Amino acid sequence: MAVISVANAKGGSGKTTAAVLLATEFVARGARTALLDCDDLKLAASWARTARLGEGLTLVDTVAVSNLAGYLKALRATHEHIVIDLSGARDALVAFAAGLSDLVLVPVQGCAMDSRGAAHVLELIDLVSANSHKPINRAVVLSRVNPLVTTRALRSVKAVLDGAKIPVIGTPVIERAAFRDMFETGGTLYSIAADRTSNLDKAVLNMRVFADEVLRFAVGDVVRKPLVRAEVAATMRAMQPAVAAPAP
Ligand SMILES: Nc1ncnc2c1ncn2[C@@H]1O[C@H](COP(=O)(O)OP(=O)(O)OP(=O)(O)O)[C@@H](O)[C@H]1O
Ligand SMILES: [Mg+2]
Repeated sequence: MAVISVANAKGGSGKTTAAVLLATEFVARGARTALLDCDDLKLAASWARTARLGEGLTLVDTVAVSNLAGYLKALRATHEHIVIDLSGARDALVAFAAGLSDLVLVPVQGCAMDSRGAAHVLELIDLVSANSHKPINRAVVLSRVNPLVTTRALRSVKAVLDGAKIPVIGTPVIERAAFRDMFETGGTLYSIAADRTSNLDKAVLNMRVFADEVLRFAVGDVVRKPLVRAEVAATMRAMQPAVAAPAP
């Protein structure tokens, strides 16, 4: 059982894509899954309506601060996994969802990381964690990574994040046409015709290995001591030029 939120104040960083890939893979493995779309744009909800995942996937698109805890309580009793797609806001709902999740994933786009939004979210998570005296399990996901980026380059980005005590999911989400096509054509990576999108096999493998690792993070013992605000800012500065520092 895992409640996994996906958050980043930066728009277009790959939150909805990561949420949809996880929901797809969990259902494909036979786990009853709920997808909570907390973004006003409702892209995850639109996708879910085309995904034809039947009873395996429950869509909730009426989440608010006032009802989130109630939804989670009810869904925990009947579902194996709950995936929460958050908006690019840095608001109470994001903070609340983070506090109620087993893992908060923070997608950071590519290797030339614009991590300003990520730093904001990591700060917010750590603030919630400090105020609630409860560690919040969170990890960066390298998203929309160019398939030509070398393993070595990725390893060095991971090493920087790791050195900064920011856990990073070892499997990035690669930039793949299939990850876009599932929104455009509807359905899932398992229902898209292989001759209609390139490298579908690689995209499916990426989704599977990513889901494996996310589950390990969500249920495994990877909680680290929350960073204080200054540590997060210092970390992001130390990662320049690969990563921009958060605004003061
Ligand atoms: N790994 C990927 N491969 C190809 N396209 C991607 C990938 N990740 C995201 N995209 C595309 O980038 C755009 C933004 O992605 P997505 O909607 O997942 O980001 P988001 O963080 O949820 O954005 P928002 O803040 O607006 O909610 C979409 O058009 C999506 O199809
Ligand atoms: Mg989104």
